Amino acid sequence: MTDTATEQATASASGNAATEQFRSKQRAGAPAADTERVNTLVSELLGATHDIIRRHKVTYAEYDALKSWLIQVGEDGEWPLFLDVWVEHVVEEVANEDREGSKGTIEGPYYVPDAPELPAEATLPMREDEGGTPLLFQGQVRTVDGTPLAGATIEMWHADDDGFYSQYAPNLPEWNLRGTVVADPQGNFKIHTVQPAPYQIPTDGSCGRLISAAGWHAWRPAHLHLKVSAPGHHLITTQLYFNGGEHVSDDIASAVKPELILEPTPVAAGDGREVTYDFVLDKA
Ligand code: DHB
Ligand code: FE
Repeated sequence: MTDTATEQATASASGNAATEQFRSKQRAGAPAADTERVNTLVSELLGATHDIIRRHKVTYAEYDALKSWLIQVGEDGEWPLFLDVWVEHVVEEVANEDREGSKGTIEGPYYVPDAPELPAEATLPMREDEGGTPLLFQGQVRTVDGTPLAGATIEMWHADDDGFYSQYAPNLPEWNLRGTVVADPQGNFKIHTVQPAPYQIPTDGSCGRLISAAGWHAWRPAHLHLKVSAPGHHLITTQLYFNGGEHVSDDIASAVKPELILEPTPVAAGDGREVTYDFVLDKA
């Protein structure tokens, strides 16, 4: 980890960048106001909170600590980080429970749309001296019935060997380790990249204060982020992890599933590792 990157990658800088990115993105189908649904959901959320206060005899000092912490989460821009670590995994579980194709998992706060488009065999944009074990990630995109999906796109983004994401940490090229790969007519792709390091959620902001106050750790296992799509099919947002990697079994974001664990093998000739992983998309 370089000193410059550690010094400057502050929680509020990455938090505020994640907040801005979230505001600028339009997830499809923002719901129209539905009074009955809002009433039900918010009443139940408040009711659950009231129950906790009664059951644990929450004090005024604790109530004030909560209030001041909530105010600070907003000031740090850490709402996207907080929600994506501790809440999103259940939203994803419910959203994708009827899918027959590949498993999805959380998107997290660091996706940026419109990464550079690359051909079916490509190297993700990276620095000349990019650290980390070279990784060849290859596979095929198919329908549930096995038909290859010509021209599917595989958007991939991941942290570098120091655990930093481009556009959310200083001193990284804009699209470092981010790309939009277009599969060939058989749905095949071959992506050359480097293995990311485990990711530590920022410890110097509100989420970090919560983690140390509760005696938790701040780590996610090393992971590749992906969005795979093809015309007429449901896009899948997923992540892939590395067998035996640190924190695969105690991810702070609860986003690991057994189907999402890769087992790369050493490449036959040269440096690095390779792994094949196929994606199966549900019909829209
Ligand atoms: C967070 C970071 C990630 O890289 C991720 O995949 C999920 C959540 C976070 O800091 O909130
Ligand atoms: Fe991530």
